[in-house]
Amino acid sequence: TAAGVPMSRFEPNTDLRKAYERMEKTLAVVRKRLNRPLTLAEKIVYGHLDDPETAEMVRGKSYLKLRPDRVAMQDATAQMATLQFVSAGIPHVQVPTTIHCDHLITAQSGAREDLERAINQNKEVYDFLSSSAAKYGMGFWRPGSGIIHQVVLENYAFPGGLMIGTDSHTPNAAGLGMAAIGVGGADAVDVMAGLPWELKAPKVIGVRLTGELRNWASPKDIILKVAGILTVKGGTGAIIEYFGPGVESISCTGMASIGNLGAEVGATTTVFPYNRRMRDYLHATQRQAVAALADGFVEHLRPDENAVYDRLIDINLSELEPYVNGPFTPDLAHPLSKLGEAVHKNGWPVEITVSLIGSCNNSSYEDMKKVESVCQQALDHGIKAKTMFTVTPGSEQVRATIERDGIIEKMTAVGGLVLANACGPCIGQWNRKDVPKGEKNTIITSFNRNFAQRNDGNPMTHSFLASPELVAAFALAGRLDFNPATDPLTDKDGKQFMLKNPHGEELPARGFDPGQNLFQAPPPDGSQVELKVNPQSDRLQLLQPFAPWDGRDIERAAILIKVRGKCTTDHISMAGPWLKYRGHLDNISNNMFIGAINAENGKANEVRNLLTGEYGPVPATARAYKEAQLPWVVIGDDNYGEGSSREHAALEPRYLGGVAIIARSFARIHETNLKKQGMLPLTFADPADYDKVDPADRVSIRGLAQLAPNQPLTLVVHKPDGKEVSLSVQHTMNESQIEWYKAGSALNKMKENLRG
Ligand code: F3S
Repeated sequence: TAAGVPMSRFEPNTDLRKAYERMEKTLAVVRKRLNRPLTLAEKIVYGHLDDPETAEMVRGKSYLKLRPDRVAMQDATAQMATLQFVSAGIPHVQVPTTIHCDHLITAQSGAREDLERAINQNKEVYDFLSSSAAKYGMGFWRPGSGIIHQVVLENYAFPGGLMIGTDSHTPNAAGLGMAAIGVGGADAVDVMAGLPWELKAPKVIGVRLTGELRNWASPKDIILKVAGILTVKGGTGAIIEYFGPGVESISCTGMASIGNLGAEVGATTTVFPYNRRMRDYLHATQRQAVAALADGFVEHLRPDENAVYDRLIDINLSELEPYVNGPFTPDLAHPLSKLGEAVHKNGWPVEITVSLIGSCNNSSYEDMKKVESVCQQALDHGIKAKTMFTVTPGSEQVRATIERDGIIEKMTAVGGLVLANACGPCIGQWNRKDVPKGEKNTIITSFNRNFAQRNDGNPMTHSFLASPELVAAFALAGRLDFNPATDPLTDKDGKQFMLKNPHGEELPARGFDPGQNLFQAPPPDGSQVELKVNPQSDRLQLLQPFAPWDGRDIERAAILIKVRGKCTTDHISMAGPWLKYRGHLDNISNNMFIGAINAENGKANEVRNLLTGEYGPVPATARAYKEAQLPWVVIGDDNYGEGSSREHAALEPRYLGGVAIIARSFARIHETNLKKQGMLPLTFADPADYDKVDPADRVSIRGLAQLAPNQPLTLVVHKPDGKEVSLSVQHTMNESQIEWYKAGSALNKMKENLRG
């Protein structure tokens, strides 16, 4: 038999050949049973079934038990995931797992100082993560090594693989044909513990690409357009599968950007068929053996002919215009030619204050090359950026390579400030000084998300999303009603000139420069490694298990808050300065719901305490209820919990005494996270019933003793005047998820199972 091929150069003991053999065998069983053409999404997902002989495979309906190939975690979510893994008491991770330090670095004055400051400020968190990585056998990428998704693409992603990651933009690995799915930390803990991972069989949305990208149109514009079509929840429960002749015109990192932003429409993930662009990237990143294996496995890495999609979208790339999406939501899509009109009509600030390039979405070598080509034109005409202009390279490898190739020099020559290889302003890690909080202003970014307050904590910042080359052009123009395809810029002598179409090679002609090695491999035996958690710490706190269900219905619970409108995980558990407390459940709970809008008074973080009648902050009110042993619920609107895999958005309500979230509808990852932590995610059988519940009511949830899949529960609303309204509420819990509820959490259930 042929020799093994490690999945990555850091994991000599893994074998991709075996993984492919397993997938092939599993697929043979699946094919026999389904006996129809398969989409690529089905091949990858069903190819990882734990029980292909018996699993039910109905898209949009069945729960699948899957065996992912790997787990990736970023430092903000890894803390809680690792704390849960520690409390499960398992000596070693059962599948290859990595931790990436990228979220905790605040952008302020530039890469070097910012990184140094972060290493000092976050020392105990980094020590904890690095010691647990060593102890439990995980790869550890130190601060400065890069953003999780870029590092995964450069080193770990492979065609046909199934990965889960504790970050919502995990689908970035689509660039290499992987089905990579964002999950909460508790899901990651299951997989790390060697348990199968559960996912509702996704529907498949096909996007057929024809033609070829032209002029200013970039891969990012494909997904910005798709976001406009699907809206922020149109992809829920579905995998987006791209196919058709147009795919060949997109680079590997371009496909990664598309997969990455697919998270913004709620898609489970995105897949692309294996092609030469992936092969080129694998070669450029020293994975010739992986490419050779994929070449031989290609029939399983493409959809079958005549595969049927649940929905089909057609895009002719030759006609695609660049898009700018925003403000405040990533699906408000404006074709560039219509943007100026929308800006003036809506009264959005036309002057751009800051242009930001980078984030996991757009920080590849190709992206930086295209930005360089815009910067070069500025230099040729003797002009500089009119706005502040920041650049975050995606990884140390990208940074070192663009430095070597003189790209950084040109960016700085037009006024660019290079930040650390990290998330920075994308996750609110931005010590912004140029605009005071509360002042209305516009920024434009090459990021993937633009919810209010996300970047700088200022609710009045209008944040717009675009491709990096377009962001660079906007930096030169300084105005949001600019269109580089039709509007001239003015050079140093007052003469007008048109920007030429940006161009940029996908891969560096001289190869990548790996830069500084910031990887820490786990020792062969980590059992003696001591975990570093200081009991006095205000940033790390070992977990106490949640109490199991007491066997009774919930009676007369208070409504902590009735939320109106968008309630993303950012509203429930804000990031920015709060990222600091991600490993300390008690401390971080002080941010619970502080961004959510109270339907009663239209205000954030001001709710009426039912016990005292006084208005106060949400976290303090929840603590008062907890102290009084008064259970509470939250009433949510549509697509509650959209945004990220942040499990703190489920842990905090559970920790502060919440028992249920009752919403019009839920975002997928968050709904699962609630189930995992022993909270009841319920939806109104009739979404209009949302209006029948008032913040001053009490609610009872009845029928819990008969809790069963597909069985509705009864929500009795007790009005202050003594009247009662009885409503039907639904849940999507299956048998094993109901077990989690009864045990108090999925983790409690896992411990029960391990004890046998
Ligand atoms: Fe980081 Fe922003 Fe991506 S927070 S992982 S760069 S979406």
